[in-house]
Parts: sequence; structure tokens; C-alpha cells
Amino acid sequence: MFKIIEARFLAENIKLFEIEAPRIAKKRKAGQFVIVRIHEHGERIPLTIADSDVEKGTITIIVQGVGKTTRELNLKKKGDIILDVVGPLGQPSHIENFGTAVSIGGGVGTAIAYPTAVALKQAGNYVITINGARNKDLVILEEEMKAVSDEAYITTDDGSYGYHGFVTDKLQELIDQGKKIDFVLAIGPIPMMKAVADVTRPYGIKTVVSLNPIMVDGTGMCGGCRVLIDGKAQFACVDGPEFDAHKVDFKNLADRNKMYHKYEQEALKHFEEKCKLTEKINTLEQAE
Ligand SMILES: Cc1cc2nc3c(=O)[nH]c(=O)nc-3n(C[C@H](O)[C@H](O)[C@H](O)COP(=O)(O)OP(=O)(O)OC[C@H]3O[C@@H](n4cnc5c(N)ncnc54)[C@H](O)[C@@H]3O)c2cc1C
Ligand code: FES
Repeated sequence: MFKIIEARFLAENIKLFEIEAPRIAKKRKAGQFVIVRIHEHGERIPLTIADSDVEKGTITIIVQGVGKTTRELNLKKKGDIILDVVGPLGQPSHIENFGTAVSIGGGVGTAIAYPTAVALKQAGNYVITINGARNKDLVILEEEMKAVSDEAYITTDDGSYGYHGFVTDKLQELIDQGKKIDFVLAIGPIPMMKAVADVTRPYGIKTVVSLNPIMVDGTGMCGGCRVLIDGKAQFACVDGPEFDAHKVDFKNLADRNKMYHKYEQEALKHFEEKCKLTEKINTLEQAE
């Protein structure tokens, strides 16, 4: 049983949780994740450890409500309990002093890019962050990213805040300005990570992405998280989740992630119908 110590929305549909998990807080390194199960009938979902506080014995996760389980989790409040939090899982990010490192987060990917940006800064890199979102309201962790950056940029697709354009437009602009970039980390939606890889490939800039395949056990046993790296099968939960962006088969990843789309849609529909029914019963009870 894991108690929620703090819970607050950072943006619409994106919620930050601080959870009591002292042993995970002590062991975890940047780039690692936990597998969470809300209750005994719940599915297991992977979520990156965005931060931790060893003294308080807490870890921070940031959750975007995209389907049934993440939306159910986002209904949880301070004081509520989560049944299982397993971790830390996955390989820690490979951190060294590369020189100039660019950390790019797209949407909730920023929550995953943030701890690695912190570790890159601690290793002595000159850190540039590019934090992209569809619009101003969806920008998260702006202050936190700024605090670890030597240069920080916000980009929005609609131009409502910061630089008007995609994270890749800003990255290309920096390259065109002659900025010497030694390392790029990109985390976000699959098309965004692929686009970053396409920008850096011609310049031979070492680029790493954190992959988000469907995961089940998180221990290398089920094969659910199989990804193709340089034509060879790897398990993102134990071999990753970070891989060389120039070697990832992004099409295979996108196709595999679509495999359960029909069932995910059905689960979300049932969940929303249940929520509406509960709301109706509560309203009727209050009216009595
Ligand atoms: C290593 C790793 C770290 C992640 N970290 C974060 C994070 O910090 N914050 C965050 O909001 N999200 C994170 N995700 C994605 C998160 O796990 C999925 O959004 C979540 O599982 C969706 O579940 P759902 O039931 O709400 O949605 P569903 O309706 O089941 O699915 C919506 C979409 O989520 C993806 N998905 C579904 N189930 C899984 C699964 N078991 N594993 C991976 N992806 C799945 C699929 O692409 C699917 O199309 C991470 C994924 C991985 C692999
Ligand atoms: S999640 Fe089962 S092998 Fe990776």
C-alpha cells in the first residue's frame, strides 16, 4: 500500500503525485520508472519517476490521463492509497559530461526529460532545454526546467506561448546558428522523437530517446515491450527504456502500440459511463 502525500494538477489532464515509497526513493536514478497498479482489479501501467525526496521518503510521478487507468489514477487525491508501486525499473540514463546537452520534452514527456536534465547538469554539461506543448495551457514544469538549464526554451504548436513551432524547429534553429551540440535527449510522442532523430542524424549528434511501448510485467518476462533497435529485438523494460534514436524502428513501435486500441477505447467508454452513473447517483442522494 502506497499513500499519496500530495496531488495537484499541473495542466488540464496532467496531475503530479508525491507518493510515500522510501525504498524506491533511495534507490532510483534518472531515467527509471515504476509500474503502478491502482487496485486489485487494475491493470499495470509504467510511469517514470520524475523526482524523489530521500529524506521525506517520497517519489514524484506525473500522469497524463489518456485512457482508463491514467484517468482513474488522476481521480485520486491526497491521502488516498495506491495498491502497488513496483520499482525502480529499467536502466538508468547514461550520464556523462558530453559538453553541450539538449534535453527535449514534448507534452508529458517533459516529466520524463526533467530528471535526466537534472543529472546532465550535475555531471557538468552545458544544458539547453526545449519544452514543447500544443498550447500555453499544456506547458508543464517550466520553472523546474529553467532552474536546471543554461538556456531554456518553450515552444508551442499554436504560438500561444514562447517560440511558435515544434521542438524540432527550435533545435534546427540552434544548429543553424552554429551552436555546437554534443548530445540530445528527446522524450515525447513517437512522431516527435522520430522527428528529432531525423534532425540530428545528418549532423551525427548522439541522440537518445525514451521509448513508451506497451509494458506488462516490467521484468523482461512477458515480451510485451519488444522494440526493434538496429533490426534486433530488445525489451524496453530491462534493456531500456532509453535507446540510440538513430537505431530505433519507430514504425514498428507505433504499429505495436496501436494493437490494443479497440480494447483501450472500450475500457475507457465503460469507465466514463461508470463515472457518469456515480455522479448521477451522488446528485440524486444530495437532492434527497
Ligand atoms: C517506461 C515508460 C514510462 C512512462 N512514463 C509515463 C509518465 O511519466 N507519465 C505518463 O503520463 N505516462 C507515462 N507512460 C505512458 C503510460 O504508461 C501510458 O499512458 C498508460 O499506460 C496508459 O494507460 P491507460 O489505461 O490510461 O490508457 P490506454 O487506453 O490503455 O492506452 C492509451 C495509450 O497508452 C499507451 N499504453 C497503454 N497501456 C500501456 C502500458 N501498459 N505501457 C505503456 N504504454 C501503454 C498506448 O500507446 C495506448 O495507445 C510511460 C510509458 C512507459 C513505457
Ligand atoms: S514489459 Fe514484459 S518484457 Fe518488458
